Amino acid sequence: MKIAVFGTGYVGLVAGACLADLGNEVICVDVDEKKISDLKKGKIPIYEPGLEAIVKKNFEEKRLTFTINAKESIENSKIIFIAVGTPQSESGEADLKYVFQVAETIGKNANESKVIVDKSTVPIGTAKKVKEKASEFTQHKIEVVSNPEFLREGSAVKDFLEPDRVVIGSDSKEAAELIESLYKPLDCEILITSSESAEMIKYASNAFLATKISFINEIANLCEKVGADVKEVSKGMGLDNRIGKHFLDAGSGYGGSCFPKDVQALQKIAHNVGCELSIIREAENVNKKQKTIPVEKLKKEFDSLEGKKIAVLGLAFKPNTDDMREASSIEIINYLLREKAKVIAVDPIAQETAKKILSGIEYAKNPYDAAKGADALILITEWNEFLELDFEKIGREMNSKIIIDGRNIYNKENLKKLGFKYLGIGR
Ligand code: UGA
Repeated sequence: MKIAVFGTGYVGLVAGACLADLGNEVICVDVDEKKISDLKKGKIPIYEPGLEAIVKKNFEEKRLTFTINAKESIENSKIIFIAVGTPQSESGEADLKYVFQVAETIGKNANESKVIVDKSTVPIGTAKKVKEKASEFTQHKIEVVSNPEFLREGSAVKDFLEPDRVVIGSDSKEAAELIESLYKPLDCEILITSSESAEMIKYASNAFLATKISFINEIANLCEKVGADVKEVSKGMGLDNRIGKHFLDAGSGYGGSCFPKDVQALQKIAHNVGCELSIIREAENVNKKQKTIPVEKLKKEFDSLEGKKIAVLGLAFKPNTDDMREASSIEIINYLLREKAKVIAVDPIAQETAKKILSGIEYAKNPYDAAKGADALILITEWNEFLELDFEKIGREMNSKIIIDGRNIYNKENLKKLGFKYLGIGR
């Protein structure tokens, strides 16, 4: 199948590379000339395990190409994916200007009937508007399919190729079946719905997962007060298939480019039609508070944090990415700085990103350097590199042996034996 993909961000690039890997001829289009010329040289703009290899392989085998030429890519493709950004507008809604720009470009350059696939996360009703927009500029038939993406950063390629489900929403049976055929090689359930339901499935899924995290975080905070351990509690809960074990890890709150944005956008969508989503609103409030907890814990350990040296392990919003959008680390570090603490941070990949976002902190090469003379250590991102540290060595480096385990990854008993004061989340 001949496919064009507009937008070479996380979703577009992964979808493009994976669709090429499934045997399709894919042209990835972007307005950013530098990005396209880098991609042609095999330079991947984001850190994502496995992506570079799959891009290179399909580029070399000529199933995957990159261009800034929108016209040619539209003329050459029957199926056109829209995977451009939908940034948050000031009101909290998704800003659809890039989506509609692409729809217009498709309409203006359509040389035959086209099937447009919305991969970007867009408000309910957008598929119909995209169809209207593109159709304004062409006599050819335009069908639109909503095909939300559920991949996670850090495991994006695997998530695309081994999804739990594929959702295809369209008013056109023919268009839905065409897109279904693209996903047939994957071993997963394919659900065909209306475009509105497909758009809602995406928001509702992200809002539910965010709520699940905030739920366990609230339970964690209660566990602390009543002497339970949230790790045991979430394990016990998760063994019930109706609850499920995933996304029940308590910690320092959720971040990233999706949950915070989508949780707000869904509330806005609801508000616009006179509904209030009180559970989701509270999930958001709990999350904001959760990001302050590591510092609250620390404040109880010292009379003042002024001048205290705090080692921070992990800056990315989660492991295996350099993305720091809405990362808990930003809230935590800024809070520490407001308390006049000195911060020395370390992250295997996200340090360069951090330098653009955070000021007034130092960086260490590794956790042992960060621990030198530190009055406390806070673990924020559970990178593999931080899982098995030599805590005897860390303890020797530190000024006082206090660990705030913001993701509950360490063995509290072992740390206690080594003389640490261990403070997890809900343990
Ligand atoms: C999320 C969804 O998981 C994807 O299905 C979706 O496609 C994507 O958003 C999107 O809409 O594009 P992502 O933001 O990449 O993916 O990352 P997640 O793995 O979902 O983690 C989000 C945040 O939740 C992270 O900060 C993570 O630390 C936190 N989290 C996750 C917890 O605090 N506890 C958990 O149990 C799980």
